[in-house]
Amino acid sequence: MTTDEKLGQLVQAAGGRSKNLNSRLTPEELDRVRRGAVGSYLHVAGAEPLAALQEVAVNEGPHGIPLLFAMDVVHGYRTIFPVPIAMASTWDPDDWQRAAAISADEATSAGLHWTFAPMVDIARDGRWGRVVEGAGSDPYLGSLMASAQVRGFQGEDLASNKTMLAATKHFGAYGAATGGRDYGAADISDRTLNEVYLPPFYAAAEAGSGSFMTAFNDVAGAPTTGNEALVDGVLRDRWGFDGMIVSDWNAIAELMNHGVAATRAEAGALALKAGIDMDMTSGIFGAELADAIAADPSLMADLDNAVGRILTTKERLGLFDDALAYNDASREAETLMSPEFRQASRDIAARTVVLLKNENAVLPLPVDGEQNIAVIGALADDQLTQLGSWRAQGHADDVVSILDGIYDAAPEGATVSYEPGADTKTANAEDIAAAADLAAASDIVLLVIGEDFDLSGEARSRSDISLPASQKQLADAVFAAGKPVIVLLVTGRPLAIPEIDEQAEAVLNTWMLGVEAGPAVADIVFGQKSPAGRLPIDFPRATGQSPITYSELPSGRPADADLSKDSNRYIDRPITPLYPFGHGLSYASFDYGTPTVSAANVAPDEAFTISVPVTNTSDRDAEEVVQLYMRDPVASVSRPKLELRGFERVFIPAGATSTVSFTLTPAQAAIYAGDGDWQIEPGDLIFSIGASSADLKGSVSVNVTGSASTRIPAAAIPTKVQVQ
Ligand code: NOJ
Repeated sequence: MTTDEKLGQLVQAAGGRSKNLNSRLTPEELDRVRRGAVGSYLHVAGAEPLAALQEVAVNEGPHGIPLLFAMDVVHGYRTIFPVPIAMASTWDPDDWQRAAAISADEATSAGLHWTFAPMVDIARDGRWGRVVEGAGSDPYLGSLMASAQVRGFQGEDLASNKTMLAATKHFGAYGAATGGRDYGAADISDRTLNEVYLPPFYAAAEAGSGSFMTAFNDVAGAPTTGNEALVDGVLRDRWGFDGMIVSDWNAIAELMNHGVAATRAEAGALALKAGIDMDMTSGIFGAELADAIAADPSLMADLDNAVGRILTTKERLGLFDDALAYNDASREAETLMSPEFRQASRDIAARTVVLLKNENAVLPLPVDGEQNIAVIGALADDQLTQLGSWRAQGHADDVVSILDGIYDAAPEGATVSYEPGADTKTANAEDIAAAADLAAASDIVLLVIGEDFDLSGEARSRSDISLPASQKQLADAVFAAGKPVIVLLVTGRPLAIPEIDEQAEAVLNTWMLGVEAGPAVADIVFGQKSPAGRLPIDFPRATGQSPITYSELPSGRPADADLSKDSNRYIDRPITPLYPFGHGLSYASFDYGTPTVSAANVAPDEAFTISVPVTNTSDRDAEEVVQLYMRDPVASVSRPKLELRGFERVFIPAGATSTVSFTLTPAQAAIYAGDGDWQIEPGDLIFSIGASSADLKGSVSVNVTGSASTRIPAAAIPTKVQVQ
């Protein structure tokens, strides 16, 4: 290959805008393909149009090298599933794996090879709009959700035309943006980077993620797109990743805005040296990199490596055997939104719903007798919002709204009436008064409030994460009507809603649930299913508590409820979050027995098992999420107050007892010691089991008898779980 042909492979061009696919595939663009000046397109789709484009590449382009077609298939392609933060609320990685596999089946039928997912950025700051796209605040939960998605998208065989290449993103510490402002600097310690932000990336690499995308932002002043120590050094050299790395959109050019490159050529050279193989849309690799290589011939080796990894990726996808394997239009027609996929979306959506509060067991609503149910809030009827921030080829018309779900499922004897009241942007007095009147005339109100799809996602950070003003006004008027109110929260981020918690009888967090939002919510509201979703992130009481995590360090003066003591707290709020990490109620009730441990003393390489019996004490079959937390009380450095180290969503029939056993090793408590080393320290570890990070029922202690070192990020090591 000539240098130009090699450079062409490194170019990823936009084939359209994200919501207007294929629109840029003009005749001039096809000439670029003929010249071999493009290696990949994003924002394209469709078995037929992509076949036509691929034919140009393989029949008319140099060496017949196939193109790679990519899209953000994040939580569904046509059959849209709940947004990722909701998917994480299932606390069941198998649900994510199933949704990702269905998404891959649909997307590959439409000619796509590559998805920009999973997004595995840890987020502890609800102000950050992209919190909706990830698995929340915890590196252990995040690691399990990351590897599950990779397995789902890529399946057993990447060359199959039903599986697609994953791009785990946004490598680095994108979620640590200062103040939660998107694209902002991550000014974090090497320990926090390695112990909190990187483990899900490691887990994805272990699961075989075929590609990674780097983050827009910098870590301690080093923009990741040009950070050789982090990209080549950690991902490739330390972890042994041998796949392809793509920049984020225009991020190579943005190295100049960061102030680490003066020219486009310099920016290109920095990114190539850092280990970036493919340039998403900046055009620098296709244009100015040639000059940079002429000036510094040592870059030719980097170019050869990059092109080698891109061609190998195309080969792993099977494209050199059959470049049109993903372009069967009849399969596309049969596959998209099949009834089976819709059903999966409904089942999974119901599993994501989190019951935050349920006073006097007001939920589920009775299924007999007369009742006037008021559904209030424009979000109830907002189909587009349920598609979330990455809707791929999702259609708003495909969505069953919350309102329609309630209409359809309302039992005999119930009357359902609706008033929009207010959307998330505007509230007018007349509509709000109509909503309040309806509330006053009803027996029970389902108040659907929160944020619409456009208030979270990329570049959607908010300085105030309480309810939008119009939603507050609506809520105030409805509460003032004096009827019992059940709040159905629609949101892509944790919201600071203490006034809602105080006034509502029940609060059900429904996130944004995809095409089957309505039926899924109705299944929970009318008790067809018992809710068992759990929060993957703490909900603060006020924006000012952000960032917030149950897993913070204790400080020398740990937060104390007693205000007369000087402690690590705000004086104007309780020390607790509004709803803690791991929280979620059930229609059933569960009793935890006393946990036991298989050995009180273990060698650093010895496994041990912690078991706990859990009894469903209600008369209703239901699921409980049994959670295992760890604390290292005395170590060489201060350790988090608690760290999640195991969980299992268990179905327990009414009256029955299940014993859940977690098998761990001391490596799961290892402390980052620099340069990729992890140190297992001798001493006690305390393990607590409970129903949330703030509802621990019992503890056991394990003494590690010696020290040892490992190379594996502790939070990325999965705990083995058995249920009997
Ligand atoms: C920018 C986003 O940060 C990234 O997540 C996405 O994959 C690309 N745009 C492509 O749409």
